[in-house]
Amino acid sequence: MYMSPITADGSIASPVMNEPTRLRLRLHQKSVSVLSKAVASALGLDEFQCLRIGRAAAWHDVGKLYISNEILNDSHPINERDFLDLKKHTIYGHNHLKVFKGDPVAELASEIALQHHEKWDGTGYPFGLSREEISIESRIVAICDVYDALREDRPYRNAISHDDAMHVLIRGDMRTNPSMFDPKVLQAVTRIDDKFRDIFEEQHRRDGRESGGGR
Ligand SMILES: [Fe+2]
Ligand SMILES: [Fe+2]
Repeated sequence: MYMSPITADGSIASPVMNEPTRLRLRLHQKSVSVLSKAVASALGLDEFQCLRIGRAAAWHDVGKLYISNEILNDSHPINERDFLDLKKHTIYGHNHLKVFKGDPVAELASEIALQHHEKWDGTGYPFGLSREEISIESRIVAICDVYDALREDRPYRNAISHDDAMHVLIRGDMRTNPSMFDPKVLQAVTRIDDKFRDIFEEQHRRDGRESGGGR
């Protein structure tokens, strides 16, 4: 897919991401893609839908190409001003992908880019959508995204184990509450618990050596 450098206000921007961060992002997106396809299958979606979700999920964070390396690689917990900027990756990604109107995968990818940080309980961004206002595809990607992020080293915290990540999804922690996730999607993830761990480990073993750190 051609990478159009279009920003939220329609202007042209040069992607600013450095190479290690780009590699880490690619690894994260690929892992979330395979996890999302497995969850879609566990939810009983047909094979065509599962394939389409998998392909579209691989672009969910493309808007981070327009977020500064300083924000993406800051080793401190994010401050409020930087978080406002980081949140814009949803809009940037949506705009980046929506130019491919008519391509079903790109159209779904554009929607997922926009909605993957929305939460079932309405506490997400950019619009604070809740429940079925969020597409099922985005609800699937949202939980896979949190799982993959928990299991990766980030500049501001260390990776946690599969069991600990599942505990966070099911029981919550300081940042995550299970009410953020569609209960049916969360149940599907718990049904394929072992597969989830295997997919993550396979994806990150295969490509992890070339990736850098990043938010
Ligand atoms: Fe994201
Ligand atoms: Fe992500």
